[in-house]
Amino acid sequence: MEDIIEISNLNKTYEGGFQALKGINLSIKKGEIFALLGPNGAGKTTMISIVCGITNPTDGQILVGGKDIIKDYRDTRSMIGLVPQELTTGAFETVISTVSFSRGLFGKKKSPEHIEYILKKLSLWEKRNDRLLTLSGGMKRRLIIAKALSHEPRILFLDEPTAGVDVELRKDMWKHVKALQESGVTIILTTHYIEEAEEMADRIGVINNGELILVEEKNSLMKKLEE
Ligand SMILES: Nc1ncnc2c1ncn2[C@@H]1O[C@H](COP(=O)(O)OP(=O)(O)OP(=O)(O)O)[C@@H](O)[C@H]1O
Ligand SMILES: [Mg+2]
Repeated sequence: MEDIIEISNLNKTYEGGFQALKGINLSIKKGEIFALLGPNGAGKTTMISIVCGITNPTDGQILVGGKDIIKDYRDTRSMIGLVPQELTTGAFETVISTVSFSRGLFGKKKSPEHIEYILKKLSLWEKRNDRLLTLSGGMKRRLIIAKALSHEPRILFLDEPTAGVDVELRKDMWKHVKALQESGVTIILTTHYIEEAEEMADRIGVINNGELILVEEKNSLMKKLEE
């Protein structure tokens, strides 16, 4: 399968000298769901932020769709949707205006058809004219995903999509993420939970102390853990 993201020799040292990523090499295959599993402070958000162009790498190279994230920033950024770990949403806007506005931020032409498609896919169509403050927690999470998909990215990063979410909502999120994969989106998600990685992912990467210590097919990893 074709690689859609190629990370080579990535290092990140924050100002002040803390080394958050140490020599990361990782390729993400087109169409897969990849789970990045690791404890608090392992470097998951740092890695995502660098691929999305929010944080600068200290050194190394990252290609997204064959293009360099620094030289071809606009191209690579437009291929990516990001669902951040920290949620911030305007309270008084409606669902549909929020999602349409996000699309505009990427300079994409208006597409009511695409917005409708996304809202239906995430079971938010019925709520399209409601204000955000009236949404439940799970609906808000789905709204953030809808925003991240508004500009038709081929790659979606989900940074701890189910942190603080109850079991039922978690299963609901899993279902939606699988449906997105089926529609052709490559998905990278971070999680603290091995069960979540097991449920969702085709491949799992384990990161600890800024080092990627293991990358494996989900099935073979689960077999090893059972032994
Ligand atoms: N802006 C920053 N300046 C200095 N150090 C930082 C900065 N951002 C993150 N770090 C440090 O880098 C390390 C990795 O942080 P990161 O947010 O990537 O971890 P994480 O794996 O996403 O953790 P969590 O599971 O808690 O979200 C941590 O030790 C953190 O304190
Ligand atoms: Mg994080």
